[in-house]
Amino acid sequence: MRASIKVFAPATVANVVCGYDVLGFAVNAPGDEVVMHFTDKPGVVISKITGDEGRLPLDPFKNTVSASVQHYLQHIGRNDIGVSIELHKKMPIGSGLGSSSASTVAGLFAINTLMDNLLTNKELVPFAMKGEELACGYGHADNVAPALLGGFVLIRSYEPLDVISLPFPEDLYAAIVYPEVDVPTKDARQMIRSKVLLKNAVTQWGNVAGLVSGLFLKDYDLIGRSMVDVLIEPTRSILIPEFYQMRALAMEKGAIGFGISGSGPSVFALTKDEQTAHNITESLQGLLKKVNINSLAYVSPVNQRGPIILD
Ligand code: HSE
Repeated sequence: MRASIKVFAPATVANVVCGYDVLGFAVNAPGDEVVMHFTDKPGVVISKITGDEGRLPLDPFKNTVSASVQHYLQHIGRNDIGVSIELHKKMPIGSGLGSSSASTVAGLFAINTLMDNLLTNKELVPFAMKGEELACGYGHADNVAPALLGGFVLIRSYEPLDVISLPFPEDLYAAIVYPEVDVPTKDARQMIRSKVLLKNAVTQWGNVAGLVSGLFLKDYDLIGRSMVDVLIEPTRSILIPEFYQMRALAMEKGAIGFGISGSGPSVFALTKDEQTAHNITESLQGLLKKVNINSLAYVSPVNQRGPIILD
């Protein structure tokens, strides 16, 4: 049995425009790292957090990583174990890229590996959802499931939980731009209307089914024309600077589709190749710069592995 481990878990693009809370995919970078080792004293402690500018709690009951590790240890009946955790944030917080999810998943993958893989990655999803509940008030799975499983994931149902890995075209790339304005997921969820018009619901479920079909069929046009959100985007886009200008530019530069990543403010485009993705991030960053908004950009194929052991 290992005594310590270092793990990386990837960022994720939740919703994939039309699939609020039910669709997500993982990217290769950015992501977070967790270093974990056993200690003599029972209980879970956070010994260090870097890269968060002091924004994340060290209290093990409030931090999503330690809280979900505690749930895991409770579940397997090992409250006698002592665990010390270092969290190294390597991605922006409140960016819409599944920041809390990447940390939580890295922690759960670390403890489960130290415990000789008692559970499968899929079985870790409910524990990671507890972390999301702590972070934003609701245990949605569309970040944690793809971060744990890699690839594109559909949450077909929450009660009971039914998580399905989807096939996808392997040359698909994501072009992601994070305009540096803070949008906490909790706030971005509270602003959404809880009631929808049947007419809009019909449009939305047609698009979710269309996107899933497009992924199966490797039909880029179908994927693109299904990346339409009539329920959430009209409200949330208000929080994102130059959102509609960015969409027009991304589409002009060859995007298959474009939208908000998770709860924003990051935006993403899907492309058929890496160069187009770079052209898009460069253009969008240029557009934001003109209105004095700093941004970060990431280009990645869809991540196929989920979390990995670094050391
Ligand atoms: N489905 C979640 C939301 C993802 O849109 O609030 C949060 O990243």
